[in-house]
Amino acid sequence: MNNENLEVYPLFAKTIVRTQIDLEGTDLSKIEWSQNYQNEISNSQNVLDEPNFTKLRKECMKGINDYFHGVMKVSEDTEIYITESWFNKTSKGQTHHRHWHPNSTLSAIVYMSGETGKGGNTSFITSHYDTLEFDVTEGNLWNSRSWTVEPAVGTMLIFPSSVEHLVQPYDGDEPRISLSFNTFVRGTLCQNKLMRLEV
Ligand SMILES: [Fe+2]
Repeated sequence: MNNENLEVYPLFAKTIVRTQIDLEGTDLSKIEWSQNYQNEISNSQNVLDEPNFTKLRKECMKGINDYFHGVMKVSEDTEIYITESWFNKTSKGQTHHRHWHPNSTLSAIVYMSGETGKGGNTSFITSHYDTLEFDVTEGNLWNSRSWTVEPAVGTMLIFPSSVEHLVQPYDGDEPRISLSFNTFVRGTLCQNKLMRLEV
């Protein structure tokens, strides 16, 4: 932009947070897998309830609380907690279908294993379509309809559960394993007497 007086307000954005978590001591060797549409999914849908993933769960909760209370500034009267949690395994040549996470408020992805620079990127895609289609000279945070993140072990992405996403084709020899989980809220959601909700 050439005009120094321009200010841009990315109002009502979809807030996606990227952070790093400590995976040391996390053993993925005992996960049991089933076929998903285009890759594999763990048999368990509550992997973070298992004792061997206690530390991983704590790391995930720290990230979620940083988003919920730290970034979004939600009152401590509302607690956010993990509901479902599962692993995804994408092998060479595979993808993960486009989807979103119903019955959840925030969702997250943690890259557990895999090679960087071999594809398997996560793309977030808007579900909102404008009527006019323009060619743009450069993609940025304001004009993009999808946003792609390259996987790196230990990286955690947190996003509103309604945001659609998919995994691009993966070309690494080491399987790309990610953790996904959903969340919900409890406590007092709002103190305003017309909107107050205790759950
Ligand atoms: Fe997902």
